[in-house]
Amino acid sequence: MFRSVRDKDVIVRLGYPKVTPLISSGDFENGNLMAATWHTHLSGIPPLYGVSIAPDRYTYKLIKETGEFGVNFLPFRLYELVWKCGLVSGANVDKFEKFKIRKMRGKVIKAPLVEESIVILECKVTKDVKVGDHVFFVGEIVHAWVRDNLLLSKGILDITGDKHVYYLGRGNFCTIDKNTVKSLKN
Ligand SMILES: Cc1cc2nc3c(=O)[nH]c(=O)nc-3n(C[C@H](O)[C@H](O)[C@H](O)COP(=O)(O)O)c2cc1C
Repeated sequence: MFRSVRDKDVIVRLGYPKVTPLISSGDFENGNLMAATWHTHLSGIPPLYGVSIAPDRYTYKLIKETGEFGVNFLPFRLYELVWKCGLVSGANVDKFEKFKIRKMRGKVIKAPLVEESIVILECKVTKDVKVGDHVFFVGEIVHAWVRDNLLLSKGILDITGDKHVYYLGRGNFCTIDKNTVKSLKN
C-alpha cells in the first residue's frame, strides 16, 4: 500500500537522507559557509559537480561574484555545525568566527575551506541554470582533498572511520553504519 503525498514541502524530502556538506564561497578573509542538501556529482570527464542555491542566499551572491565554490564534507560528529550554518546568513555574520571553524587555504580557489572536513572539492563555475526557485551552479572540480586515513586502496571511502553527515529533514540528522556495507566485488 502507498499513500499519495501532495504537500510540496514534504515531497522535496522524500529522497532523503542525503549527505549534506557546507558550501564555501567568497575570498579567504571574507569567506562564507552554508549547508546544502541539494548537490551532486554530474560528470566524470571532465569532473563536474553541481549545487542548487536559492538566490536570496548570501552564498549565491558570492558564487556569482567569484565564480568559485568549495564543497566541504564534514564528519558526522559536526552535524550541529552543518545545521547552524544552514540557519544564519553570512550577510550578517562571519560564520567562521562565530562558530570557531578552522579555515584552510584552497589549492586553486580563494574561498576558505573547512579544516575539519573529511573530503573537500574545489570547484570553478562553468555554468549556472535557473531551476524553479533555485539556481543550479555547475562547477568543474579543479582540486579534491581527502583525509589520507580515509581512502581505501580501492579508491573508496573507509566508513569504519569518519562518516558523512546525512540530513533527514526538519532538523534531523543521521549517518551510515559500517555493518550495512555489502561488498559484491573485491
Ligand atoms: C540541512 C540544511 C540543508 C540546506 N540545503 C540547502 C540547499 O541545498 N540549497 C539552498 O539554497 N539552501 C539550503 N539550505 C538553506 C541555507 O543553508 C540557509 O538559508 C543559509 O542560512 C544560507 O546562508 P548564507 O545566506 O550565508 O548563504 C539548507 C539548510 C539546512 C539547515
